[in-house]
Amino acid sequence: MAKNVALVTGGMGGLGTAICKSLANDGWKVVANCLPAFPPAAEWVAKCKSEGYDFQIAEADVTDYDQCAAMIKKIEAEIGQIDVLVNNAGITRDAMFRKMDKGQWDAVMSTNLDSVFNVTHPLLPLMAERGFGRVVNISSVNGVKGQFGQANYSAAKAGILGITKALAQEVAKKGVTVNAIAPGYIGTEMVMAIKEEVREQIVATIPVGRLGRPDEIGDLCAYLASDKAGFITGATININGGLHMC
Ligand code: CAA
Ligand code: NAP
Repeated sequence: MAKNVALVTGGMGGLGTAICKSLANDGWKVVANCLPAFPPAAEWVAKCKSEGYDFQIAEADVTDYDQCAAMIKKIEAEIGQIDVLVNNAGITRDAMFRKMDKGQWDAVMSTNLDSVFNVTHPLLPLMAERGFGRVVNISSVNGVKGQFGQANYSAAKAGILGITKALAQEVAKKGVTVNAIAPGYIGTEMVMAIKEEVREQIVATIPVGRLGRPDEIGDLCAYLASDKAGFITGATININGGLHMC
C-alpha cells in the first residue's frame, strides 16, 4: 500500500535533504518545507529529480504560526494526508553568553523551538483523530549536554526534548509517536561554519574520530517513521559518535 505524506521542515538543508531521501527510499511521499520564495528551491527539486527523487515543496516560515497552519491545510488538501512530520528546521547564532544579544537569543528560540509548536500544533490533532502519526523532532547533542557558546541553541534544543516527552504522553493512545533525535556534529554547512581550528578541536573529542554523515541521521529518522518503531515514543535517540554517552 502506498504510504502517505512525510513533511520535513527545512527540508532543503544538509540534514533535511538526507532525511527527505531516506523517507522517500522507504516509500513516503515527501514534501520539503522551505522559507517562502526561497530562490534555490526549484534548483534543489531539479537536482533531487536527477538523482531519482520526486519531491514536492511547501513554503512557510516556521517561526510564523499562521503560515505553518496554512501550509498544513494546503498539503492535506492538495497532496495528501500527512502521517510523518520531521521538525528539522534550525539555525545557530553562536556567541559567548556575555556577547550574545537579544536578537541572537530570539532568532534561535523562534526558529528552533517555537517552530515545533507552530508546525505540530495544527497537525497533531489530525494525526490523533486518524489513529496514526509519527513526529520526529531534531534536537542536538548540545541540547542534551549544553555547549560553550550556545546558550540560546542549547536551551532551544533542550526545550525540544521537553515538548517531545509531553506530547508523546498526550497522544500515545492514539497511535501517534513523538520522538527526538539528538545528533552530534554532522558534516553540513552548519558545522562547517564553525571556525576551522575550533571545529578541529571538536572532532578530536569524538570517539569515533569523524563527523557524522547526514544519511546516518536520515536513516534513523526513517526508522522512527516506520511501523517497526511503534513502541518507541517520548525517546531521545543519541547519535553522536560517542561524543556524549548517556
Ligand atoms: N570550553 C571552554 N573554553 C572555551 C571553549 C570550550 N568549549 N571554547 C572556547 N573557549 C575559550 C577559548 O579558549 C578562549 O579562551 P581565552 O580567552 O582564555 O583565550 C575563550 O573561550 C574565547 O574563545 P574564542 O576565541 O573562540 O571566542 P569567540 O568569541 O571568537 O568565539 C564561539 C566564541 C563563537 C562560541 C566559538 O568558540 C565557537 O564557535 N565555538 C563552537 C561552538 C559550537 O560548538 N557550535 C556548534 C555549531 S554546529 C551545531 O550547533 C550543530 C549541532 O547541534 C551539533
Ligand atoms: P542547514 O543545512 O543550515 O539546514 C537548516 C534548514 O532550515 C535550511 O534549509 C534552512 O533554510 C531552514 N530554515 C531556517 N530557518 C527557517 C525558517 N524560519 N523557516 C523554514 N525553514 C528554515 O543545517 P543542518 O545541519 O541541516 O541542520 C538541520 C537541523 O539539524 C537543525 O535543526 C540543526 O539544529 C540540527 N542539528 C544539526 C547538526 C549538525 O551537526 N549539522 C547536529 C545536531 C542537530 P535556509 O537555508 O533558507 O536558511
